Amino acid sequence: MLEQIVRPLLTWYDEHARSLPWREEPTPYRVWVSEIMLQQTRVEAVRPYFERFLQALPDVRALSACPEDELLKLWEGLGYYNRARNLKRATQIIVEEYDGQFPADYEALLGLPGIGSYTGGAIASIAFGIPVPAVDGNVLRVLSRLMASYDDILKQSVKRDFERRIQEIIPRERAGDFTQALIEIGALVCVPNGKAKCAKCPLASLCRARALGVVDELPRKKKPKERRIEERTVLVLREGSRVAIRKRPPKGLLAGLYELPNVEGKMTEREVLETLRRWGLAPLRILPLADAKHVFSHVEWHMSGYAVSLEETDDMEESGLLFIEAEETQERYPIPAAFAAYAGYMNITLGQEKYEEEKVHV
Ligand code: ADE
Repeated sequence: MLEQIVRPLLTWYDEHARSLPWREEPTPYRVWVSEIMLQQTRVEAVRPYFERFLQALPDVRALSACPEDELLKLWEGLGYYNRARNLKRATQIIVEEYDGQFPADYEALLGLPGIGSYTGGAIASIAFGIPVPAVDGNVLRVLSRLMASYDDILKQSVKRDFERRIQEIIPRERAGDFTQALIEIGALVCVPNGKAKCAKCPLASLCRARALGVVDELPRKKKPKERRIEERTVLVLREGSRVAIRKRPPKGLLAGLYELPNVEGKMTEREVLETLRRWGLAPLRILPLADAKHVFSHVEWHMSGYAVSLEETDDMEESGLLFIEAEETQERYPIPAAFAAYAGYMNITLGQEKYEEEKVHV
């Protein structure tokens, strides 16, 4: 079905394309600089920057030799200054490895700093006529609507799927125009926020979202939920050769797995000792361990840890902890990777014992 958009889209582009400075003379350098500038900034805002930048630094060699302060001055106001630094790093590589000429090769372009699949595809298709896709936010919107796709366009897998679909239909003889036409129709006609101009769209009769009356529902972008940050204090509790673990509740995060005992919050040594006594345990020595972090999909654990050696007492059972031989944990009890940083400490011995053991080893 998508195949059918090629002809009407190109015909529309021939009549309606805006005249933009980077389109007049689409050299790889000009296309690249414009695409990087356009990544976070509107076309009208980019125009004057582009002209000034090209005057000051007309080619790869000029940019590669530009002092950083001067470069950042030219970029001032565009924001995201790493984009400018990456531009310079890329030109240095182009000078050193490609004799100052942009490589006419999609994969080689992708190897340059700051060039991802969109920018690489734009340079390859617009400047070199190589038939490869360049799928940005505009194109994702246009395609979602044409296909009435409710796939989440923030997902990498969806972007790759759309890239594959474009790859199948991109016309070899007009690859660059096709890339620009898709971007242009997204910028001028198939616009976001309930303002799509379907009456003016050359693809309206092919558009599934229009047929279904769902243009304004698309594209779908699922906002990634912000991850909650949880401070936790993880305890490596040893009694002789045994260590303490505990089974997690049957529902929720890491349900039913075993864990090192841990408590909410970032505890001091004194708080840890108090907590352990409340659990009916008799701490002998305590040693702070390195901080660690584990990222789950909806929560991040920022962990601090302590190793504590315990005196054997009669009421250890009441703590609800399971004291087992350290080697046994690995074989029998699934302990999630979130605790990896502390599981490594399970075989350590503390204080005086540690020195004695080292002496034995020496
Ligand atoms: N937005 C991103 N790339 C563009 C281009 N080449 N022309 C117009 N708008 C764009």
